Amino acid sequence: MNVLVLGSGGREHALCAALARSARLKNLFCLPGNPGTAELGTNLPGDPNDITAVLAAARQHAIDLTVVGPEDPLAAGIVDAFQREGLRIFGPTRAAARLEADKSYAKQVMRQHAIPTAESRTFDNFEHAREYISTRDSGVVVKAAGLAKGKGVFVCPDPSDAIIAAERMLFDGIFGDAGRTVVVEEILRGREVSVLAIVSGRTIYVLDPAQDYKRLGEGDTGPNTGGMGSYSPSEALDERTMAQVEREILVPTVNGLLADGIRYTGVLYAGLMLTPAGPKVLEFNCRFGDPETQALLPRLQTDLLDVIEAAVDGTLDRVALRWDPRHAVCVVLASNGYPGDYETGKLISGLPKTTGRDDLFVFHAGTDRRRSSLVTGGGRVLSVTALAATRAEARAQAYASVAEIDFAGMVYRKDLAG
Ligand SMILES: Nc1ncnc2c1ncn2[C@@H]1O[C@H](COP(=O)(O)OP(=O)(O)O)[C@@H](O)[C@H]1O
Ligand SMILES: [Mg+2]
Repeated sequence: MNVLVLGSGGREHALCAALARSARLKNLFCLPGNPGTAELGTNLPGDPNDITAVLAAARQHAIDLTVVGPEDPLAAGIVDAFQREGLRIFGPTRAAARLEADKSYAKQVMRQHAIPTAESRTFDNFEHAREYISTRDSGVVVKAAGLAKGKGVFVCPDPSDAIIAAERMLFDGIFGDAGRTVVVEEILRGREVSVLAIVSGRTIYVLDPAQDYKRLGEGDTGPNTGGMGSYSPSEALDERTMAQVEREILVPTVNGLLADGIRYTGVLYAGLMLTPAGPKVLEFNCRFGDPETQALLPRLQTDLLDVIEAAVDGTLDRVALRWDPRHAVCVVLASNGYPGDYETGKLISGLPKTTGRDDLFVFHAGTDRRRSSLVTGGGRVLSVTALAATRAEARAQAYASVAEIDFAGMVYRKDLAG
C-alpha cells in the first residue's frame, strides 16, 4: 500500500515511523515532511493546505491512503475533497473538524448534548463581552473561537485583563477572523490531561493515557507552547476516570454529532481538566496531539496502518489495540526564544544512533538539511523518546540521549516525567 502523511512536525515523523513498521506498507510519502521523514520515505514538496495540489500529488504517486497530521487542512475540508474524488483519507470532514476549528460551535455541541465543560458565553460584539465580564467578580478565560495556533487563549484571574483580551480580539482584531468571535468561560481548576481516541462512526478506541507539558518553563511556568514533552502511560487517569471520560464525554460527543448528521472519523482529542466535580472539557482537537503522539505511537504494538485503514473503511470494531507495557518519555528540544522569535540555521550535532532500536527515537520537527549537515529550522527542533520498564528509567534514558545532542541555543525542560 502507498501511504501519504501530511505535515512536517515531530508528530508526522512519529506517524511515519509507526507506519513504516507495517509489513503492508509499500511506499511512504510525506508532504512536505522533514529530514527525519526523508529517512523513512519520500518527501514531496508542497503545502498541505493547498488541497488541489495535495490531490494531484496523491494521484500522481498512486496513494492508497492519506493520513492528515495538522488541523488546518482538516478544517479547510481536505477530507471532503478526497472523499469526493473517491480517495481514502484518515481524518474528520470539515463539518466534524469544526469541533476544533470553532470553539463556539464546540460549546454549542457540548451544551446540546450535556457534555461536562466550563460554563461559557459567546460574543462577537466587544461591548456585550465587556458588560458580561464586568458583572463577574471572579476571573474568566477568553478564547478566540477560531484556529489561532495555540495563542488565542487568555486565562485571566483578574476580570479587567479579560476585558483587555476581549478588546484586542474583537476590537483590534489581533487574530483576524479567528478572533472575530470569542468564548468567555469560567476558570476550571484541577490537573490538565488529554485523552485521545480513534473514532469511526460509533466505534471509539480510547488510546492509552498520555500526559503533555504545555508550558515552556520548569515547574509549569512561563508561556504556553505547542508542547515541551510528554509521557505515556500517565497515572493521572486511572481506569475508572478513563471509563468516565469515555461515557460522559467521548460517547455523547460522537453520538451527538451523528444525530446531527455528522459522522466522525479520525482522532478525537479531548483536552480535559480533572476538576473536583469530575472531568470537564477544555477543548476538542480533531487530530493527533504533538508531542503526545511521540510518546504514544512508539508504544503501539498493533499495526497503525491496519488501525487507520479500518477506521477509514468503517471496520474499526474488528481491530484490537495492543500497547507495549513499557513507559515512554519524550523530551522536546527547542530553539532559544521559542515560542517567541528565535534564530535558525544552528548546526545540530550528537544525534544518537537509533536505527533498529525500539527503545530510542529521535523525531525531527524544525530541522533542515544543509549540504551534509543538519541544522535547526524551527522553534521545536527535535523530540527524543525513550522507552523502558519504568518511567524513571525511560526518563533517565531520554535525558542521557538529550545530553549527547547539541545546537547553539538548545533549550528543554529538565523536570519532565518526574
Ligand atoms: N476554562 C479553563 N480554565 C482553566 N484553564 C483553561 C481553561 N481553558 C483553557 N485553559 C488553559 O489554556 C490552555 C489553552 O486552551 P485550549 O482551550 O486548549 O485552547 P488552544 O489549545 O486552542 O490554545 C489550556 O491548555 C489550559 O491550560
Ligand atoms: Mg489546547
